[in-house]
Amino acid sequence: MRRRLVIWALVGLVLLVVVAIALPIFSTLQPGYYRRYPALGPRMDHWTVSTHARITCGECHIEPGVGGFFSFSAHAIPAFYSQILQGPDTTNLLGAPSRAACRKCHTSYRAVAPSGDLLIPHKAHVEILNMECSACHKDLVHSLNRHGFNRPEMEICLTCHDGDAATDECVKCHTRKQTPASHAGKDWLQIHGRATGLEDCAQCHDWTPGYCAECHEKRPESHVGNWKKGHAGPAVERGDGCLVCHGGEEFCNTCH
Ligand code: HEC
Ligand code: HEC
Ligand code: HEC
Ligand code: HEC
Ligand code: HEC
Ligand code: HEC
Ligand code: HEC
Ligand code: HEC
Ligand code: HEC
Repeated sequence: MRRRLVIWALVGLVLLVVVAIALPIFSTLQPGYYRRYPALGPRMDHWTVSTHARITCGECHIEPGVGGFFSFSAHAIPAFYSQILQGPDTTNLLGAPSRAACRKCHTSYRAVAPSGDLLIPHKAHVEILNMECSACHKDLVHSLNRHGFNRPEMEICLTCHDGDAATDECVKCHTRKQTPASHAGKDWLQIHGRATGLEDCAQCHDWTPGYCAECHEKRPESHVGNWKKGHAGPAVERGDGCLVCHGGEEFCNTCH
């Protein structure tokens, strides 16, 4: 009788330990669990409307393999109890996802974006330059980029592609974006000034600092022959157009 009681007590104890370990692991694997942390609210909201909404937190945030699972559990168990006893902690239970986690599902590398405009040699950046997926895809799940998409933005590329460490030529990345139709005419250089109100020049040219200014410090082809005498006609015709390069009327006033 007494021996049975001891055995039952032991079995009960073992069960209790198993539950005490299994419950936190099971709980922390459920996405809903993370609602308990108010600080994660915005991340959760974005995740529910992202392409990856049906993929659980652990799929991305737990390193694949047994080691990854143990390391996650070692963090999850104390975090679970501390959350119950002391309320939500501000330190993150989940760290940024590793490349290996993304590669569980995304096994092939694309070299061109779905839009067709953008060249992005994934293999070179991931395997040769050893970059993490989340370095470029930081807005994939939990936030939107400035334009309201989950895609990587050009700024991220330009941190390396500054013309020094890596190329900053538009055509190396863009297959279509480089030259708008307006630029096709032979007289573009003569008429581009008048187009400034019609098209958003900054959208493309602000990426190259000093793009407009560099040219405007050079003497244009119109200034040929005896320009000192010849400028009168064009000056009347162009009006304020002359002032873009001359920085205002002060220049003209030096003689007039
Ligand atoms: C498809 C993959 C994916 C899924 C699914 C996912 N995340 Fe993330 N998570 C990321 C990426 C990429 C980052 C890094 C960029 C960032 O900080 O937003 C990140 C970052 C985080 C961070 C910040 C980690 C740090 O230390 O920088 C937390 C916390 C987080 N995720 C929580 C969650 C929770 C909670 C869920 C489930 C509701 C979840 N994530 C689901 C991809 C994912
Ligand atoms: C459990 C599987 C799984 C994991 C892990 C996963 N993804 Fe995905 N991913 C998908 C599925 C499924 C889609 C939708 C594919 C489709 O619609 O063609 C997708 C779509 C995408 C897209 C294109 C859609 C979009 O939102 O622009 C990108 C980019 C992407 N994943 C990157 C990543 C990165 C980076 C990681 C690692 C942080 C990751 N994924 C982790 C399954 C996964
Ligand atoms: C150097 C930056 C960079 C890195 C690093 C990077 N990506 Fe991308 N990825 C991009 C860009 C840019 C796009 C194109 C987005 C667009 O405009 O649609 C893209 C598109 C994708 C797509 C969607 C295209 C498709 O196949 O439908 C997937 C999936 C993807 N990346 C997964 C990954 C994974 C997984 C990793 C890590 C192994 C990774 N990326 C690393 C920049 C990067
Ligand atoms: C960590 C730095 C880094 C980041 C960030 C980065 N790249 Fe690169 N990229 C390189 C290096 C280094 C090379 C090889 C040197 C070169 O071609 O100038 C390269 C090469 C390339 C090439 C081939 C260029 C050629 O000459 O044909 C393309 C296309 C490219 N990157 C696109 C991108 C895009 C798109 C992004 C952003 C989504 C990006 N890269 C972000 C470092 C980076
Ligand atoms: C290293 C690669 C790379 C180079 C070099 C590059 N771009 Fe981009 N560009 C991108 C990426 C990535 C995006 C974001 C793609 C998306 O949103 O679909 C982008 C987006 C854009 C956009 C869309 C609007 C915006 O503000 O995001 C314009 C316009 C643009 N690029 C023009 C240019 C011009 C002009 C140059 C040359 C001065 C240039 N790009 C050079 C990678 C590059
Ligand atoms: C390749 C050199 C070059 C670049 C780059 C350049 N310009 Fe010009 N710009 C000129 C020349 C040359 C003229 C004078 C044209 C003429 O008089 O024949 C001019 C004239 C102008 C005028 C006066 C037009 C008129 O006569 O009424 C404006 C405005 C102007 N540019 C705006 C811009 C802006 C904005 C940018 C940058 C987005 C820019 N330019 C970039 C060479 C350039
Ligand atoms: C969609 C992108 C885009 C827009 C918008 C754009 N440009 Fe350009 N522009 C380019 C590219 C790409 C080049 C050629 C690449 C280079 O020289 O860096 C160029 C070249 C030029 C040149 C030099 C032409 C030459 O013969 O050397 C001038 C001048 C110019 N742009 C003025 C303007 C003005 C003014 C506007 C606004 C009315 C404008 N651009 C809008 C992309 C754009
Ligand atoms: C693309 C830029 C640009 C535009 C547009 C431009 N200029 Fe100039 N201009 C210059 C430069 C550069 C000089 C040389 C300044 C110097 O040597 O200090 C110059 C010099 C001059 C001079 C001094 C005489 C000389 O021969 O050195 C006059 C006068 C002049 N410009 C008038 C005009 C008038 C009038 C217009 C409009 C029809 C005009 N400019 C449009 C760039 C421009
Ligand atoms: C280097 C001195 C010099 C500068 C700088 C100069 N001009 Fe003149 N400008 C003259 C001279 C000299 C004449 C008389 C030419 C003649 O004899 O036909 C003249 C004539 C003119 C005329 C004809 C009417 C008149 O008053 O006689 C106009 C209009 C004119 N300039 C406009 C401009 C404008 C606009 C600028 C600034 C963009 C400018 N000029 C800068 C020297 C200059």
